[in-house]
Amino acid sequence: MSSIASFIQRDAGSADPVDWNSYAKCYDVLCGMNPAYQVLLQEFRTFLRRIEVREELSVLDVGAGSGNFLMEVGSEFSDRASMTHLDADGVMNELANAKYRKANLQVTFVEENARVANFPAASFDMVVSVNALYAIPEPKTVLRSCLTWLKPGGYLYLVNLGRMQNTFEWTLYLIRHNVKTLGWLRTLSILMNEGRTLSAQNRKITQAQAKGTYWSHSTPELGATLRELGYVVTHLDTCYRGYSDIAICRRPTDTCAPTLGDKLAPQ
Ligand SMILES: C[S@@+](CC[C@H](N)C(=O)[O-])C[C@H]1O[C@@H](n2cnc3c(N)ncnc32)[C@H](O)[C@@H]1O
Repeated sequence: MSSIASFIQRDAGSADPVDWNSYAKCYDVLCGMNPAYQVLLQEFRTFLRRIEVREELSVLDVGAGSGNFLMEVGSEFSDRASMTHLDADGVMNELANAKYRKANLQVTFVEENARVANFPAASFDMVVSVNALYAIPEPKTVLRSCLTWLKPGGYLYLVNLGRMQNTFEWTLYLIRHNVKTLGWLRTLSILMNEGRTLSAQNRKITQAQAKGTYWSHSTPELGATLRELGYVVTHLDTCYRGYSDIAICRRPTDTCAPTLGDKLAPQ
């Protein structure tokens, strides 16, 4: 099987403060040396192993980036997963496409602003979105759409950057966790090259959060927003070193008891 690329016309209406093209080129190198990102992947893997999937699992990743989270779905469910990768950035999508192809995964690409994306109602068993929603215009509208796209009882697995990042603090963290394995020279070389590019974009993210162009929130605020929109929130916590929040939610059905999700919390 090969990956399927169905490129829908991109919405160029809003000027994004962040250059996601530059971000993409350094993204996986920095994710590889970021233990906090690896924890996010590990927690998602744990979640996937705990859910019950009878036949097929249809998954949409909103702001899927370089494809790391759909790769997890593919590796857990292989041919049983039907996956849709939604992201507005062409470079991110190319990186993801190369990974999916190498892993022989069939993935449908939608290269579009998530704000204007549209899918048939009740078409996904799971919507995943990891540290992307904050950057999408009108995130609450997007969350409302995701609820519509989910089948009754379907899962929303949401991780979102809620607080402003401290670039200096992140740099110290990455040094602390990499010098032993990579050595000083390699660690500093990555941070001076890829790290510098990413930090410049992260500063733009922080500025956009400060201006309110990008969404920022506390953990309870995220939970309240999701409940107001009609989700059943089964797990809510801070993650990603306190900068992000994780919410595991379900689209309500008659039989969807809120306690069910307690068993699905990442551990
Ligand atoms: C920090 S990356 C996260 C990528 C991936 N979810 C992960 O965790 O590895 C944020 C992603 O959101 C995408 N993005 C930003 N604004 C978007 C929008 N309006 N519509 C769709 N994707 C968007 C970017 O292109 C980028 O790939």
